[in-house]
Amino acid sequence: MKLLLDTLLKKSDGVSTPIWLMRQAGRYLPEYMVLRKEAGSFLNLCYNPTLASEVTIQPIKRFGLDGAIIFSDILVVPDFLGLKLEFLDGEGPKLENIKEIAQLKNLIIKDLNSSEKMQKICDSISITKSKLDKKTSLIGFAGSPWTVSTYILSEKRNDFSSLRLFVSKNKILVKELIDILIEQTIIYLKAQIEAGVEIIQLFDSWAGVLNEQEFQDYVILPNKKIVKEIKKYDPNIPIIGFPRGAGHMYKTYADQVNVDAISLDQNVPINLAKEIKEIKIVQGNLEPLIMLSTDKEDIKIGVDRIMSELYGKDFIFNLGHGIIKETPVENVEFLVNYVKNWKK
Ligand code: CP3
Repeated sequence: MKLLLDTLLKKSDGVSTPIWLMRQAGRYLPEYMVLRKEAGSFLNLCYNPTLASEVTIQPIKRFGLDGAIIFSDILVVPDFLGLKLEFLDGEGPKLENIKEIAQLKNLIIKDLNSSEKMQKICDSISITKSKLDKKTSLIGFAGSPWTVSTYILSEKRNDFSSLRLFVSKNKILVKELIDILIEQTIIYLKAQIEAGVEIIQLFDSWAGVLNEQEFQDYVILPNKKIVKEIKKYDPNIPIIGFPRGAGHMYKTYADQVNVDAISLDQNVPINLAKEIKEIKIVQGNLEPLIMLSTDKEDIKIGVDRIMSELYGKDFIFNLGHGIIKETPVENVEFLVNYVKNWKK
């Protein structure tokens, strides 16, 4: 059964469209850059509950968004498991790789009591919850197993042909790795709920590189298992699934994974969005590049295109992917006000 939107985003009054933005806390905000510098590194910031909580709230203070997503990263899960993780300035994440089944036994699944790092993120969740306006929903998240695996299995970012060849030749390794990630992700999400998150988003950012069979094995099945366990633990927690780039398979995901809402990337055609909205709440899907425009008219056109088809019940406004770091702050402010005041 479809959960009502007002339980998903508490502020929704059925007239004004709820909005939050992926990567709403980050480098486009000058106040983020100040705390990022103070922390010394991105990971130090993620694992500093006071600063991470402050960063989470920065975009809420500025724009009055309806959801606050906890400041962290999907790659903290392999970090909990013991894989060495670094974020190099200007290069993105660098994660210790796994190439052989024998290396899997070095991964140790952590619960809240045995993982200081997980505890830090949960502390940041409870601090944020205590500070946040009651009308703003606190969103927790995790990367889905396939997407997290892409960083564990491959040293080169964005080299998906080599990665897919490796995956096709190492099916047992991939399956066992995904099973470990399913288990760790479930533990982590339960801990986030315990600490106070009110919504969960599952990021499967690289779902789009898989063929149909792989999509079934590595996207549908793992997401299904995670959702099932989380719903068993807390039947009332709304879950948003984001199988980015899934194309036609978006519909399969919506049919088969028991999430409450589906986050659509900017390439999902509006007709498919409407079809998915028949069965699930949808979230999305403004092209993030539009937000770089020097002409606000471009933002209006982009929003109107989406709102004229999806406005109303069961719709959350978001971008199709994260905010690009060159985005002018004033454009974000304009977008939020324009969406909130948009009426049919
Ligand atoms: O505001 C929010 O959305 C919450 C925080 C958040 C971050 N990463 C902060 C971050 C969330 C939800 C993520 C998810 C994430 N991380 C994903 C899934 C969403 C997506 O983008 O597809 C992925 C694939 C990652 C992995 C990751 N983290 C990459 C590839 C990079 C480097 C790219 C980049 O933009 O630099 C990161 C770094 C990262 N994660 C930053 C932030 C604010 C930038 C680090 C910095 O401040 O130096």
